Formats: sequence, C-alpha cells, structure tokens
Amino acid sequence: MSEHFRVHGGGRLVGEVAVVGAKNSVLKLMAAALLAEGTTTITNCPEILDVPLMADVLRSLGCEVAIEGRVVTITTPKELNHRADSEAMGKLRASVCVLGPLVGRCKRAVVALPGGDAIGNRPLDMHQNGLRKLGAHSEIEHGCVIAEAEGLHGAQIWLDFPSVGATENILMAAVLANGTTVIDNAAREPEIVDICVMLQQMGAKIEGAGTSTLTVHGVESLQPTEHRVIGDRIVGATWAFAAVMTRGDITVRGVDPHHLDLVLEKLRMAGADVTTLDDGFRVVQTDRPRSVDFVTLPYPGFATDLQPFAIALSSVSDGTSMITENLFEARFRFIEEMVRLGADARTDGHHAVVRGVERLSSAPVWASDIRAGAGLVLAGLCADGATEVYEIFHIERGYPGFVENLRKLGATVERVSA
Ligand code: UD1
Repeated sequence: MSEHFRVHGGGRLVGEVAVVGAKNSVLKLMAAALLAEGTTTITNCPEILDVPLMADVLRSLGCEVAIEGRVVTITTPKELNHRADSEAMGKLRASVCVLGPLVGRCKRAVVALPGGDAIGNRPLDMHQNGLRKLGAHSEIEHGCVIAEAEGLHGAQIWLDFPSVGATENILMAAVLANGTTVIDNAAREPEIVDICVMLQQMGAKIEGAGTSTLTVHGVESLQPTEHRVIGDRIVGATWAFAAVMTRGDITVRGVDPHHLDLVLEKLRMAGADVTTLDDGFRVVQTDRPRSVDFVTLPYPGFATDLQPFAIALSSVSDGTSMITENLFEARFRFIEEMVRLGADARTDGHHAVVRGVERLSSAPVWASDIRAGAGLVLAGLCADGATEVYEIFHIERGYPGFVENLRKLGATVERVSA
C-alpha cells in the first residue's frame, strides 16, 4: 500500500524539536565497526530505514547486528566475508563505505556499486585512486568495485576534490596500513570528524581531523568501542528553514550550532532572529523573508543537501535569489516540482534564479530524494490549500518522526494511504 503526505498550508510552526544522530555519520560509523573484532556500540542513532539496511549489509559480511531503539550493537567476527553484494547494497549510498574497512581488514573487497539518492553522477574514481596509492589494485567489474592488495602501505594522497565518501574510505583503509598516510584536500565535514573521533577511541592514530590534511599513522589492529553519533546538522537546518518559511518560532536541540554557522548567518540575512544555545539554536521569523543568494560548497561552505531548502525559501522570499549548485547537478530537478507549486524559478547550467512570490499554490508533487522530499513539504506549508507529496519513502530514509515533529510544531499534515 503506498502512502503519501497531505500538507495543509498557512500556519506558523512554533515549538521545540529534538534532533538525533546524523544519517551521514551513523552509517559510516557502522562501517567502521568492521575494523575491530568484537562488539562496538553506537548510540543516538536515528530510527530511519537506512540503519536497518546498513545492518543487513554488515550481516552479509558476517557481523551480528542488533538495533534497539537508538542503540546499534555490532559484533564483528575475526574472519569477515569480503564480498558486499547483497540486495541492501543497492539501496543506500553509504554502503560503499564498507570498501575501505574491508580492504584494511581482509586485503580484498568486492563491493556492489551503491544506490542512494538520484542527485547526479556519483563516480568512485577518487576512492579507487586513493586505495591504489595505498597499494591496492582496483577496478570495476560486473557492477562491483574490486580492490585487492598484498598489504597496504602508507602514502601521500592528494584528492582532486574534498569528497566525503573518498576521504572516509581512504581513511578507514589507512588506519590499518603499514606506515603513515597523508590525505591532502580531505573533506572537513563534521561527520568526518565524528568518524575520526570513533577511530581514535578504537586505537587509530589520526591527526588533523576537521582540517584539509589528515595524517594517519597505521596501527596493527583496532579495538571495539562505544560511541555517540553527532546530531544531524542537515535535519536541524531543515527545521531552521521551516521556521523562516512559515514565519514561525522553532527551537532545535541536539545539534552543535557551530556546524551550521554559515546556514544560520544566511537565515539572519533573510531576516530571522537567531539565538544559538549550547546544544542547538532558536530561529524566529516575523516578517516575510528577504531574498538571499546561496552557493553550495564542501564544508564549511553551504551544504548541497540544503539546496532544496534554499530554493523553497527563495520561492516565498521578497526579491530574487541566485542559487549555485557546485556538487550535484541533478539536484535542480527539485525545481520542476516547485514550479508545480507556483514557484517562479528557472535554471541555467548550475545556477538557478528564483523570484519570490507572495504565496505558493497547492498541487500534487513527487519527492525525488530525501532533501527534495522534505523541501516539498516545507513548500506545501506555505501554499494555499492541501499539497499532496508522493514518494515519501525518500523522506523517511532521512527524517525520523518527520510527521510527528511537524504536528508537534502545529502543522496540519496527514499520512494518506492509497
Ligand atoms: C556525501 C553525502 C551526501 C552529500 C555529499 C556532499 C553520505 C551518505 N552522503 O555523499 O548527502 O550531499 O556527501 O556533501 O554521506 N566525486 C567524484 N569522484 C569520486 C567521489 C566524488 O567525482 O570518487 C564527486 C561527486 O560526483 C560530487 C563531489 O565529488 O560532485 C562530492 O561528492 P562526495 O563528497 O563524495 O559525496 P558522497 O560522499 O557521495
């Protein structure tokens, strides 16, 4: 039975939301558990579909995985299966993060090409080139990335681009390599820092977490640990945009506000009154938001995952905004759905120009990925009438208790079964 959301526009969102662990961190931390024999415990995990999918991937490699609410326990055996080609692999992007740990532990990995959001071309060349520098032979055959090595050795690696996934895979292979690896132009996302912290607790020797140069001194083996996932800054930012778009007043808890410094500054420019707290922030908007330009870039730039919210906000702002997408070109597909809702938006290459309108008008719309789906719900909250949002399974891959939180904040949203 397929379900969709019916979102009634018009109201202000007011209240408090608690955000739990980051999707883009927990899945990598689960992969990192492969690096140590024994039982690793991860807490503050979001209750979203991708977590049991990743658990299935780890089980296919020989791990025992238990999920109890927000706690995930992974027991990794001494001997791992090096073939990660189960059905679950194709359902999420983060599954590719087993590549680095498998090469590190087994010296051999066969990993099915990952699935995940259809947001544009997502090659793995930097992952493979990094592993090659560490001494592995790597190719893509029959839909799988294959990497094999006699033994891994430290190396100097320069990434063409600070790719999150490539940094993670190379890092997780290098922690067990013989000697020192330096990854230059590494990604600096808070989720990378989170993995570094967990790996350090496991006994890895890593310097430079959160900078663009990561230095890894390989060790013989790692030990299991217990680790709490950092709060999801993308989910936290979603609620911040919701406050501004609905001229509401939302307090978000469970997120480090410094992970959103630039985002909160942009919202201030749009007219929001933003207060940062120890474990979150409060965003209050009274007047119609003012138009602001956005440019997506690797952290600490404005996250590409927030681009749909930038477009949705610009659609109802006073003035014209330019949004530039530098990472995933297909994310602009979201604009087609926004146009159904009455947005005045057009694209030219990797730029979008959005002229704000006073009010959007409800329409049936289709979510194409997690963030686009959430962006359509926020837009529906600013539209006249009831907007039907289809393909909501995307949203539920990334937002635990999305509808429940919306209702708590005063939104009228129904889950409709068809
Ligand atoms: C991760 C996030 C995703 C986020 C993205 C950028 C997960 C599961 N997903 O995706 O939500 O939008 O970071 O913050 O954590 N690239 C190459 N070759 C490679 C690798 C990447 O050309 O080998 C390119 C990509 O096409 C893209 C850019 O590099 O243009 C950034 O991609 P990357 O940072 O690797 O994103 P993911 O790790 O896939």
